[in-house]
Parts: sequence; structure tokens; C-alpha cells
Amino acid sequence: MKSPDSDISKILSTEDRTEEEVARFAELMRVFLDLEPPPDPYGLFPHYAEYKRVFRQAVDGRNADTLEDAFLTLYCHVHGHEAPYTPDERRLVNETGGYWCHAGGISPLLKAGPFINRDTVSADFGAGNGLQCLLLQKLYPHEKTIQIEISSRMVEAGKYLQQWLNVPDERVEWIVADVCDVVPRDMDFIYLYRPVRPEGKGRAFYERFARALDCEDRRVVIFSIADCLHQFLSSHFEVFYTDGHLTCFGNGR
Ligand SMILES: C[S@@+](CC[C@H](N)C(=O)[O-])C[C@H]1O[C@@H](n2cnc3c(N)ncnc32)[C@H](O)[C@@H]1O
Repeated sequence: MKSPDSDISKILSTEDRTEEEVARFAELMRVFLDLEPPPDPYGLFPHYAEYKRVFRQAVDGRNADTLEDAFLTLYCHVHGHEAPYTPDERRLVNETGGYWCHAGGISPLLKAGPFINRDTVSADFGAGNGLQCLLLQKLYPHEKTIQIEISSRMVEAGKYLQQWLNVPDERVEWIVADVCDVVPRDMDFIYLYRPVRPEGKGRAFYERFARALDCEDRRVVIFSIADCLHQFLSSHFEVFYTDGHLTCFGNGR
């Protein structure tokens, strides 16, 4: 029998999580429980069926740690950490000291709720297959998400995931580009997981990024994993949360 989200949330640990975060976590698990296997034309999810079976068993087993581990294994798998790059894309990632594709984890997904409303424009700089912001769209449907990623193949895979998650076409703009060539403008919620190292060309990226954010007269919230941006932001931005992995800033507007 199908367990409702409230049932899953009773299994989850409440340690270091608000009631709201536990509810969102249960909702996220429900999304993965209910979905068919994702379309996989590029062979990026070879272990999906196995990990899904273990996850389903863990829901029935009702042990918090086992359940979280099983879910995270499945979630990381769908993130496709074996990102495929063309030789040119690989050269560019190497030049900018970019991070290869690692999943940013679920804490940004669970904590983003209060900062996203119907009119929000969100963005992921270095989006991989875009799963993070697709899941944000799933949990908190909003105006638009802009996904910027160097790997054209990951972007193609992400478009399949968008259909799989049933996120409407008009809600997501995919941009295959070097993040160094994209300036944040008219964005309300920005997510990034250290797409480039803050040295050389990468340093210029963070400097330009911070300058552009200073010119915004709207409220901007940034969720940054393995943060490199802090040192470049002006005093208009303040950290309102950090746990060493995720750092959150807002400009107080
Ligand atoms: C650590 S992963 C983060 C993936 C996803 N945003 C998340 O948090 O789960 C960093 C991503 O940045 C991309 N990347 C690296 N250098 C880049 C560049 N110069 N321009 C655009 N994307 C880049 C990588 O291909 C990878 O997908």
C-alpha cells in the first residue's frame, strides 16, 4: 500500500531540521517513489532500478538512517555525477578550475522554501543536468528557472529529466555556456556549487558576478555550496545561514 507523505515524515529524523524541512523531505521522497524510471538515452543511470528497489524497501523498513541513505544514493545517481563532456568542454572546465559534477545535496532544496514564491526567477550557475532547480520547481513551482551549464550532453539529459518530472517547458530556460560569459541579471534566487575556482579567469567570474549583483534593486538570495563568492560580495550582502557546506546570502532589499 502507498504510504502518504505524512507517514514518511514520521520516519525521518527531526534532528537539525524544522518541521517544514521534514515535510519537504517527505514530499521529495514521495516524488521519487511515485515516478517511473527516468528516460536514459545517454546511459547515465545504470543502477536506477536497483537503487529504487533499495529505497522502496527502506520506506517499508521505517529506519530513519537507512531511509535517508537509500534516498540519497538514488538522488545522487540521478544527478549523473559521471558527466559527459566533449573535448572542448573538458578543456574549458580544466582552464577555469571548474568542479566536475557533484550533487549539491538536499539541504538547499529543503531550506529554499521561504525564499521562493510564484514570481521567483531562479538560476543554477553550473547546473549539471539541472536536477537541483528542477526539484525546486517540483517542490515550489515558480515563474522560471535558468540553468547554465558547460556540458551540452548534461543539458540534453536534463531536458529529459524535466519531462520526467513534469515541469512545464516554459518554466525552464537551458543555456549551454561557460558561466564566465553569463552575468546574473533579473534573478531572485541564485544557486551555485563552485562552478569555477576563484583564480585567474575564475576570479574574474566571481568579481563580475558580485558587481552585477550590487546593481540589482530587487531582493536577491544566493544559496552557495562550497562557497567561493563571499569574499567578492559587497557589504550589501549578508550571510544569514551557513553550515560549512551551504552558505546563504541576501542583499537586504
Ligand atoms: C559541482 S557541480 C554542481 C551541479 C549542480 N549545480 C548541483 O549543485 O548539484 C558543478 C557543475 O559546474 C559545471 N561547470 C564547471 N565549469 C563550468 C563552466 N566554466 N561553465 C559552466 N558550467 C561549468 C560542471 O560541468 C558541473 O556540472
